[in-house]
Amino acid sequence: MRIAVVGTGYVGLVTGSCFADLGNQVICVDVDRKKIQGLQKGIVPIFEPGLEEVVRRNMGKRLTFTTELGKAVQSCDFLFIAVSTPPGKGGEADISNVKAVARGIAKFINRYKIIINKSTVPIGMGDVVTQIILKFGPKDVAFDVVSNPEFLREGSAVQDLLRPDRVVIGATRRSAAQKVAEIYKPLNCPILITDLKSAEMIKYASNAFLATKISFINEIANLCDAVGADITQVAKGMSYDPRIGGQFLNAGLGFGGSCFPKDVSALVKIGQKSRSSFRILPQVMDVNQRQRILFLEKVRRVLGPLKGKTLAVWGLSFKPNTDDLREAPSLTIVPALLKERARVRVYDPVAMEKARALFKRAKFTSNPYEAAQGADAVLVLTEWNEFKQVDFKKLKGLLKQAVVIDGRNMYGQGELSDEGFAYYGMGRGEVLDFS
Ligand SMILES: NC(=O)c1ccc[n+]([C@@H]2O[C@H](COP(=O)([O-])OP(=O)(O)OC[C@H]3O[C@@H](n4cnc5c(N)ncnc54)[C@H](O)[C@@H]3O)[C@@H](O)[C@H]2O)c1
Repeated sequence: MRIAVVGTGYVGLVTGSCFADLGNQVICVDVDRKKIQGLQKGIVPIFEPGLEEVVRRNMGKRLTFTTELGKAVQSCDFLFIAVSTPPGKGGEADISNVKAVARGIAKFINRYKIIINKSTVPIGMGDVVTQIILKFGPKDVAFDVVSNPEFLREGSAVQDLLRPDRVVIGATRRSAAQKVAEIYKPLNCPILITDLKSAEMIKYASNAFLATKISFINEIANLCDAVGADITQVAKGMSYDPRIGGQFLNAGLGFGGSCFPKDVSALVKIGQKSRSSFRILPQVMDVNQRQRILFLEKVRRVLGPLKGKTLAVWGLSFKPNTDDLREAPSLTIVPALLKERARVRVYDPVAMEKARALFKRAKFTSNPYEAAQGADAVLVLTEWNEFKQVDFKKLKGLLKQAVVIDGRNMYGQGELSDEGFAYYGMGRGEVLDFS
């Protein structure tokens, strides 16, 4: 199949290269000239396990990159829109990039195409794209607009794209949806064909539900701290119930990244606009922000005033296996520590380059031990595997004080205390009074 993908970010680049890997002819487009020039040389601009191999395997054969939207529109039968939809000023989704692409499609469309929206967009956006193309495009060229929301997770995006739990396709005409379903046929996964608006809603509802689960378990964790229970045991006990399940029950610093915070906030706005305001979701966002504040309070409570203290920060990305720093807890926590005049020594296995511009006053180090040198405590902000396997004896020898404050509950109860550390997790029953 001849496919164009507009936007070569986490979603577009993974989608385009994986579709090429399945044997399709794919052309990827972006307005970012530097990114495209790099991709044309095989340079993958993001860290995503397995992605570089897929890109290199298909480059020049079935996978090409361009900045010319016209070339891509005219050469394809299916055009995927995978551009960014960042949060607008009021928390709503900024859909200007999607609209710009729709205008571009209108300008260049030369024969029937199926235009598939993969970006996360407000409910009704499929109709907006249709209206733009009808208004600015040629009157005698037919097209269909389809919604195909993306559920991949950064850090396992290639696997998620090639082995999805489900593919959702929303369309006004079933025949268009069925043609898009053909692209996914080799993946042997459940495919739900539905109407446009329901497909758009499924994406928001899924992310908002998962975010709610995280904020729920975080509030239970806070109560665990107050009453002396251990959240990891509580979550384990809950997880045996298949109605609850074990995923997204990891208490800690809350959710970040480019999706959950922005999608929850956008859904709240959609609710307000549609006069069906959410009551739960504003609280979900509030609880999430508060986790970072509670963590900082915990650090102060354990260490006293932070001025002049040296702190090792382990992990900066919003979750492991990605270099994405968008909405990462580190963005709140590191500047707060620096503001209180702590000396901050940071380390992240892959996000250092992106972080350098953000934390100018922090000391960047090349491994977790170097970060820990002379520190009053280690603060774990991202649960990278690399931190699971540290040599605790060596670590203890490097630290000024053997204190670990673990924002991700990486370590088992007793695992560090047995090594002589003072260990504090999130909701591990420390009975810290935050009143
Ligand atoms: N990142 C994720 O995990 C994820 C998962 C599911 C869905 N989504 C959604 O997918 C969409 C893309 O997300 P992302 O994380 O890949 O974004 P991203 O910021 O990584 O990449 C977006 C790309 O689109 C390009 N772009 C912007 N406007 C353009 C235009 N007019 N023409 C061509 N290219 C343009 C940008 O230059 C950038 O390279 C968003 O709507 C997001 O909510 C993201």
